[in-house]
Amino acid sequence: MELPSEPGPIGIFDSGYGGLTILDSIRRRLPGYDYIYLGDNARAPYGSRSFDVVLDFTRQAVEELFSRGCHLVILACNTASAKALRSIQQQVLPGLDPDRRVLGVIRPTVEKLGAITRSGHIGVLATQGTVDSGSYGLEIQKLYDGGMAVCEMAAPMWVPLIENGEADNPGADYFVRKYVGRIMDADPKIDSIILGCTHYPILLPKIRQFAPEGVSIIPQGEIVAESLHDYLRRHPEIDRKCTRNGCVKFLTTENSEKFNALASKFINCEVDSRRVDIAGLK
Ligand code: DGL
Repeated sequence: MELPSEPGPIGIFDSGYGGLTILDSIRRRLPGYDYIYLGDNARAPYGSRSFDVVLDFTRQAVEELFSRGCHLVILACNTASAKALRSIQQQVLPGLDPDRRVLGVIRPTVEKLGAITRSGHIGVLATQGTVDSGSYGLEIQKLYDGGMAVCEMAAPMWVPLIENGEADNPGADYFVRKYVGRIMDADPKIDSIILGCTHYPILLPKIRQFAPEGVSIIPQGEIVAESLHDYLRRHPEIDRKCTRNGCVKFLTTENSEKFNALASKFINCEVDSRRVDIAGLK
């Protein structure tokens, strides 16, 4: 596959709308750069899909973003970060272009924990796929030498509620109370809950409402934005390959009008997306 060598935008990928919460924070911190957002809305949610399928879909998305000039792609999706990041870094990139980079959202989130928790009891709410991968538990224990108690649980109804525009409706309360209650029952000493799915910040007001007082709720947007800023400072060779005109383009694998209408709930700017077919790229 022939890839353009000139500098290009930073690619941001998610299964659907959730990564827009990450892009929103990244653009606030790094407004000068150009970005292409790609949402695989036609095949979302990824949360219940198998390892092989998530890897295949994520690889197609990364190839699409590379072919559009990106040298750096952020998997703004925990499910893709958990199931596909390592394989893409170790097996796909060397054959495609070893000088391009793909980064995930799990490691930067875990690095922040030490400064937030006091009890060392951490809750992780995520998709079933992310929970099954055990990625958060593994990263946390690796970084903190097994010194934390980690309870990971799936909140399977949250992504469908959000993708269908139901997050602000009273019906969503039931499922927010249910999953927050369930994780606190499992370990009442939890003092920090990672929202390990980039969709979940859309439910943040309700999650805060139903979480016990004193429990920190940790969304990932600002953490990932800060980590990207730091990465670009430490890697001038990648930074040089990122263009800076302050532009953002939106791509979706679903209907673009549908995407534009719901996207405004996730990001604070006008969204004028184009539909792309990424499944044929293989
Ligand atoms: N936003 C994604 C995540 O962070 C995935 C949601 C889904 O497609 O299930 O995990």
